[in-house]
Amino acid sequence: MKIFIVGGAGYIGSHMVKIAHRANYQVITLDNLSTGHKDSVLFGKFEFCDILDRERLDKLFKLYNPDIVMHFSAYSIVEESVIDPYKYYRNNVVGTLNLLKTMIDNDCKKFIFSSSAAIFGNPNYIPIDEEHPKRPINPYGKSKLMVEEILKDFESAYDLKYVSFRYFNAAGHDPEGVLREKHDPETHLLPLILQAANGQRDSINIYGNDYDTKDGTCVRDYIYVNDLANIHLKGLEYLNNRNKSSAEFNLGNGNGFSVKEIIQKVKDLTHKDFKVLEKGRRDGDPAVLIASNEKARIELEIGYDFTDIENIIKTLM
Ligand SMILES: NC(=O)c1ccc[n+]([C@@H]2O[C@H](COP(=O)([O-])OP(=O)(O)OC[C@H]3O[C@@H](n4cnc5c(N)ncnc54)[C@H](O)[C@@H]3O)[C@@H](O)[C@H]2O)c1
Repeated sequence: MKIFIVGGAGYIGSHMVKIAHRANYQVITLDNLSTGHKDSVLFGKFEFCDILDRERLDKLFKLYNPDIVMHFSAYSIVEESVIDPYKYYRNNVVGTLNLLKTMIDNDCKKFIFSSSAAIFGNPNYIPIDEEHPKRPINPYGKSKLMVEEILKDFESAYDLKYVSFRYFNAAGHDPEGVLREKHDPETHLLPLILQAANGQRDSINIYGNDYDTKDGTCVRDYIYVNDLANIHLKGLEYLNNRNKSSAEFNLGNGNGFSVKEIIQKVKDLTHKDFKVLEKGRRDGDPAVLIASNEKARIELEIGYDFTDIENIIKTLM
């Protein structure tokens, strides 16, 4: 089975390439390297491609005739999306629309989408299940929700079968130490804290200490990156089962840690101290995001390698 891994040079996509290759799938990465790295694509073929370029997409679909597309490519910095929404809607919505149209034109009708907890906005209740109201509070979250809506219409009109995975916070690295999270600028909490612990940055910033949470800092649910990739293979099996209809799944560990708790855990595990600066809130950050993973556990029969935050942090050390 041939899989197009769009955005396979990025953080999660590159872990996906490795896991899918190990599971004997034929993988082809399509990426424009805007935030990804070619040397992170360790297996299969690499094709330079911008999903905004429909001609190039069409050429590659005709060349490889993939059975399924996993779509990781997007811009994903919440703050930037507030400042420059055009950039986000263009890449995340128009780009995805191009990809989906090219798929339909080439009779490729199975799709796995990297959606996000950002579609929910400020939660009404915790843990957040799939039925929770969707009221994204930033253009990034809105762009992901727009694609989820497009997918429903593509299913009715063109018989596209899809799975949308709404990741909470992806975290950790390949345990074999080859793949790393290499965002530039890095905005994700765990790699930033590890950089502070390793002396690669002077301090770590906490944005907001007056949220309605146990210690005033934001609470997030961290899911191990290889668990995410393995769950995508379950998504693929799900789509191959003709009796199953398209579906959305929330993917997290089901427990939350505050920013201060994560910082303390890194200090304890690394035995390193570093400066912590308390800053004001950032635009577009909900106080608490914790997933209910019950639907995914039941319908996809998933298991997790790392549910323990300490084990996830250790992969980064
Ligand atoms: N990292 C997380 O915690 C998290 C959480 C929720 C959702 N997501 C979603 O998961 C996906 C992957 O996230 P990531 O952290 O690996 O991001 P990333 O930036 O590391 O990877 C994205 C990849 O897509 C590529 N790309 C971007 N625009 C493209 C375009 N127009 N054409 C071709 N390639 C393009 C980039 O070069 C990069 O390799 C994204 O869709 C993101 O929104 C991530």
